[in-house]
Amino acid sequence: KAGLQYFGAATDTPGFREREPYPESYSQYDAILEDPKEFGQTTPTNGQKWLFVEPEPGVFNFTEGDYVANLANRTNKILRCHALVWHSQLAPWVETTEWTKEGLREAIVRHITEVAGYYRGRCAHWDVLNEALDEDGTYRKSVFYNVLGEEYIRLAFETAAKVDPEAKLYYNDYGIERPASVKTAGAVRLVKMLKDAGIKVDGVGMQAHLHADNHPSEADLINTIGMYKEVVKEVAFTELDVRIKVPVDEQKLQWQSECYQKVVGACVKTKDVCVGITIWDFYDPFSWVPHVFPGNGASLLWFEDFSKHPAYDGMVNYF
Ligand code: XIL
Repeated sequence: KAGLQYFGAATDTPGFREREPYPESYSQYDAILEDPKEFGQTTPTNGQKWLFVEPEPGVFNFTEGDYVANLANRTNKILRCHALVWHSQLAPWVETTEWTKEGLREAIVRHITEVAGYYRGRCAHWDVLNEALDEDGTYRKSVFYNVLGEEYIRLAFETAAKVDPEAKLYYNDYGIERPASVKTAGAVRLVKMLKDAGIKVDGVGMQAHLHADNHPSEADLINTIGMYKEVVKEVAFTELDVRIKVPVDEQKLQWQSECYQKVVGACVKTKDVCVGITIWDFYDPFSWVPHVFPGNGASLLWFEDFSKHPAYDGMVNYF
C-alpha cells in the first residue's frame, strides 16, 4: 500500500458478472478477491445502482448491493459505495416520468435517504454523483439536469451529507485524469460550485479507464491531483483498468504495466491527497471493457487462466 489507505478491486454479484452463467469453478476468483494480501477495499460494480436498488418508485431492493457490502465486512475490506445519482443504469421510470421540479426533487431525496440510510456506517466513501459532465466539460443533459439544472447537484450532496455524515462524499467521473482536459476543468468547477455554496464534498474520484497505448504520464496525473487539491481534501483512482487493443502482445502488456505503475506512482507521491486505488474488477473475463469497447480487452491484472499480467509485478515493485 505504500502509505495509501487502500488498494482494492471492485467486484460484481456472481449472477451479474460479465460472463454468465457463473460456474462454481470460479472458486479461484473468490480466493483472490477475498485474500487480504491482494485487496484491502472493494466496490460493487453494479449492485448499488438506481436500476437495482429502486427499480420502481419507492420500492427498494438491496439484495445485489448487500452481496458486496457483506463480502467487504466478512473479509475486512473498506467499502466504497457507488453510485447515488447517475444518468446511466437508471430505473426506467425515472426517465419516463413527466417530472415537475418538486416531484423530481422529492424522488432524488427519497432515493438518497433510503439508499445511503440503509448503508449508513458501512460506506467509507459514497460516489454521490457520477459522470455529470459531458466531454466538453459542461453539464451532461441528463433527466436530472434537464428538469432541475445545477440545483440537482447541490441537492444530491446536501442530502447525502445529512443522511450519512460520516461517509466521504465524492464526485466521480471518467476522462478527468489529465490536467489540460476541459473535463478536468469542469470537475474542478463542479466541486468548487458546491464548496462555494457551503455544501460538503470530500473528494474527486478519477475513474481512470485508461488505454495501454496512449496513457497519461505520471507528471500529468500528479498535476491533475494538484488541481483537485485546490478544491477538495482527497482524491482516489476509483475504477482503474487499462485496456489493450487485441490481439494482446508483449509490447502492449509492457505499455499496460507502465500505465498501472504511473497511477501507483502518482498516488503514492501525492498520498497526502490521493487516498487509494481501486481496479474495476481484477479478472479479465469479468471486465466490462470487451462488451463496451469492442476490439479491446485484457484490461485487468489476471488473465482468463488466472496467470498474472506483467502489470501485477510491475505495480508491486513500484509500491
Ligand atoms: C459498468 C459495469 O462494470 C458493467 O458491468 C455495467 O454493465 C455497466 O457499468 N463508469 C462507472 C461504472 O461509473 O459504474 C461503470 O460500470 C463503468 C463506467
